[in-house]
Amino acid sequence: MAKKILLSGIQPSGKPHIGNYFGMMKQMVDFQDDYDVYAFIVDYHALKSVQDAKSMKGNIIAVLLDFLAIGLDPKKALLYKQSDISEHTELAWIFDTITTMPYLMRAHAFKDAEAKNKEIDVGSFNYPMLMAADILLYDPDIIPVGADQKQHIEIARDTAEKFNRIYGDTFKLPEAMIMKEVAVVPGTDGRKMSKSYNNTIPLFAEYEEIKKCVMSIVTDSGEGIPKNVYAIHNLLRPASELLPLYESKIGKYKELKELLIEDLEKFIAPLRERRKEFEKDIPKALTILKAGGEKAKKIASAKMEEVRGKIGVNVY
Ligand code: TYM
Repeated sequence: MAKKILLSGIQPSGKPHIGNYFGMMKQMVDFQDDYDVYAFIVDYHALKSVQDAKSMKGNIIAVLLDFLAIGLDPKKALLYKQSDISEHTELAWIFDTITTMPYLMRAHAFKDAEAKNKEIDVGSFNYPMLMAADILLYDPDIIPVGADQKQHIEIARDTAEKFNRIYGDTFKLPEAMIMKEVAVVPGTDGRKMSKSYNNTIPLFAEYEEIKKCVMSIVTDSGEGIPKNVYAIHNLLRPASELLPLYESKIGKYKELKELLIEDLEKFIAPLRERRKEFEKDIPKALTILKAGGEKAKKIASAKMEEVRGKIGVNVY
């Protein structure tokens, strides 16, 4: 029996953090034996924030090394980048023609920009259409993401339904996989961990950097258990172990932070070491990405042939 397909992507827009890891990247590795995993780098999406060729190249290679370092096995999973498969942007255009402006104006990212009186670029406005194409081209079953991407998956489903209604059954409706405990990994200030809040713990941080991040975790002298420290610690150890420990150290914030530093170091050090190994042979890593792109291209172009047939442009 064919395996189900699990697919997700990440922007090459800087260093990934442990929020990206627990919210999405880990699932790609954990499920690679049981699912056909498609992991991709959404470089065209990242163009809205990375507008310098050198940074873009560096970021793409960095995410590639990150995926390999966390244990994504190219023999089991397909690893590719969006820009290698022009069908993504082609299908996004077709989706544009069946989507209304008011519908996209309901997207959170658009509403946030509007609320801040920011002038939104067309690419950001249209972001969910390219994301719908990223997904629907491959008929995946599940999409592991953090809670911040929930609406985007709903838009992809709506778009599939709309297309199917107009042109006949073509796309499978994907399901988001949002793990409750890691749906919103909190940052060092208790808000969602995010590069834009400057509250992250980088996934491959060196020991000194881990220390600095943990020491900056915001605590409130009135709280018994420092909730921001606990919430991050809880990613690494279950509540059954952690609660008694925290209860035995009420008020001892520094000691608890030191324990968290040690636990983070234990978790990150092996990943960091593996990443350094992959870094020694970047051409080899790039071969993996290129081969992944070639395989993904075959799947995507077969799907696009079907789409072209459905919309009636295949006259030859
Ligand atoms: P991106 O690059 O912002 O983030 C990658 C993944 O990390 C998750 N994430 C988090 N999860 C839990 N807690 C957090 N604090 C946290 N911060 C980030 C995100 O939810 C995401 O799953 N639009 C996507 C990329 C994309 C995509 C796709 C994903 C483009 N096309 C198709 C899936 C399928 C994005 O910007 O993710």
